[in-house]
Amino acid sequence: MGHIQNIALGTAAIGRPLYINIKQQDTEIFDRIKFKQSSIEVLEAAYQNGIRYFDTSPGYGIAEQILIEWLKDKKDRSIEVATKWGYSYVANFDPKATLHEIKDHSLSQLLKQWETSQQLIPYLSTYQIHSATLDTGVLKNREVLEKLAEIKADNRLKIGLTTTGNNQVEVIRKAMEISVDQSQLFDSFQVTYNILDQSLLDVADFMIASGKRIIIKEALANGRIFKNKNYPEYSHLYQTLEQMAKKYEVGVDAVALRFCVDSIRPFLVLSGASEEVQIKENLKSNRIKLEEEDINILKDFKITPDSYWSERKQLRWN
Ligand SMILES: NC(=O)c1ccc[n+]([C@@H]2O[C@H](COP(=O)([O-])OP(=O)(O)OC[C@H]3O[C@@H](n4cnc5c(N)ncnc54)[C@H](OP(=O)(O)O)[C@@H]3O)[C@@H](O)[C@H]2O)c1
Repeated sequence: MGHIQNIALGTAAIGRPLYINIKQQDTEIFDRIKFKQSSIEVLEAAYQNGIRYFDTSPGYGIAEQILIEWLKDKKDRSIEVATKWGYSYVANFDPKATLHEIKDHSLSQLLKQWETSQQLIPYLSTYQIHSATLDTGVLKNREVLEKLAEIKADNRLKIGLTTTGNNQVEVIRKAMEISVDQSQLFDSFQVTYNILDQSLLDVADFMIASGKRIIIKEALANGRIFKNKNYPEYSHLYQTLEQMAKKYEVGVDAVALRFCVDSIRPFLVLSGASEEVQIKENLKSNRIKLEEEDINILKDFKITPDSYWSERKQLRWN
């Protein structure tokens, strides 16, 4: 099997028992050993299915640690890994926890998390600020920016950031202007893009023309693209996606992922799959190419970034 060039595995769903999505609460008692085993199986399944890029974060529970361990036996330099700094996981795998993660964009947090994350070398290709927003001041913190430039030079990494929120285009534009020693700092941008939030289109061509990597997250809108009676306002979208899924002979997830690939031409789209079946279904997106007319039909379903993010805030950790 050839390597998959345009889809990566995001590891948020395999590192901690709960993650933001639209599922119902799982009442099973959490078994850490079983959980770790099944997470490793998902990594291995992704690899066996041709995926070679893995995205993680210390904020994703044990995901980064599992990846470090799994890579020790892999010895395959075609694997590329991206991790982040800025969030730590604090829920201790307690399904009843109310606080899951803490955000800290200080220099001391960068130094602390880098200490662990550098174990991903030599597979580590990309080091990202996790959820860079204007309010944490991280994009104005010269000490942090200079440290990132040093990490980049010393380890030949790409420095990236991830964006979350209704002003991601503003954050991306600001980040693209940042230089350290006359050299642009950011090479890679992990951003939200999907049928509902298409705000990235305002800046995507400029990013690609500037040689930046676009890595798309939330391609399935955290599961909101799947038929769900809680979202009656999307019934027309659900119907359209199902018709297209039938026409292209894949699932609606593959159509939604392909929408991202065909309408933006990003470097990668992240799959948030939590099991092998989903990986295989997601990868069916590579069997198809959406017709221009279908891309335009799907483009009409966009909602405003404000609506997208206020709806996303209401999703629970499940
Ligand atoms: N930087 C950030 O701030 C940030 C934020 C979010 C995500 N991310 C990254 O992006 C990655 C992707 O996560 P996402 O939330 O963006 O994921 P997503 O792809 O938008 O959605 C994942 C959801 O879709 C469901 N799903 C996937 N394939 C399916 C299938 N074939 N059938 C049914 N359900 C299916 C999953 O199911 P289950 O309900 O079974 O889990 C999950 O609920 C993460 O792992 C992480 O690496 C980063």
